[in-house]
Amino acid sequence: EYVIIGGEIVDRGHATVDIEDRGYQFGDGVYEVIRVYNGKMFTAREHLIRLQESAEKISIQIPYQPTELEEMLKGLIDKNNLSNGIIYMQFTRGESPRNHAFPHNVAPTFVAYTRKVDRPVSSMQEGVKAIFIDDIRWLRCDIKSLNLLGNLLAKQKAVEAGCFEAIQHRGDIVTEGSSSNVAIVKNGTVITHPANNLILNGITRQKVKQVCEQNKIPFEEKEFTIEDVLHADEVFLSGTTVEVTPIVEVEEKKISGGTPGQVTKKLQQLIMDEIV
Ligand code: PDD
Repeated sequence: EYVIIGGEIVDRGHATVDIEDRGYQFGDGVYEVIRVYNGKMFTAREHLIRLQESAEKISIQIPYQPTELEEMLKGLIDKNNLSNGIIYMQFTRGESPRNHAFPHNVAPTFVAYTRKVDRPVSSMQEGVKAIFIDDIRWLRCDIKSLNLLGNLLAKQKAVEAGCFEAIQHRGDIVTEGSSSNVAIVKNGTVITHPANNLILNGITRQKVKQVCEQNKIPFEEKEFTIEDVLHADEVFLSGTTVEVTPIVEVEEKKISGGTPGQVTKKLQQLIMDEIV
């Protein structure tokens, strides 16, 4: 397996990062996960633009243009002969003696690697279970930061409850999953949290929005509550790894009769059509 480090493709065993890299010590960095279907990245440009934006929000200067990065990532996918899976990449603020304040004149550390993973076919077909959990994260969830402790604690609670995902909420308002966005369907309208500082504006979420608009499926970005989830016609997750996954049970209460809903299935199909 090959990886990218310092702008070069090297054997994974030869890639090292200093123990005082700020990503390792502080989670001081940003990342992206892009899906690879049949050897090609899906919505690469959108992910790379978001990576740039996340970096800018924390004053990390990425030394590559999105098009340059895309070429480097393509090179790695080819080198590893990856046909279906993901490519992960992160930029940290770099290596520097530990100090909370930003260092001067330090180059960001760039790392990327690929992993072969299958599409989540069975959960997409059968649906998954979820729990509710207090959203205890910070107020800049729009940044795709390496600091994921809040997300990890939420996901772990879900796993311990025998569920797939944790639906986070601030007060009564549902924000997003631990590593996915959440949407409900009510009377034919798809409703999801507005893209503000409280959620990551998922690329898959934006794809869902786009295919809804193209296919005259009503789509609204507005707040919805825990009660709305429990009384929704359908509930689904969207994300790079989960694609569009139906939620068929929340806190042991069945949603849409415990089977994936029609709108959710339609959206899965419409997004599938784009992956060619
Ligand atoms: N997570 N919200 C959060 C908190 C996420 O971590 C993710 C993705 C999403 C969905 O975003 P997108 O559609 O752009 O993948 C929403 C990635 C896949 C991860 O951390 O593995």
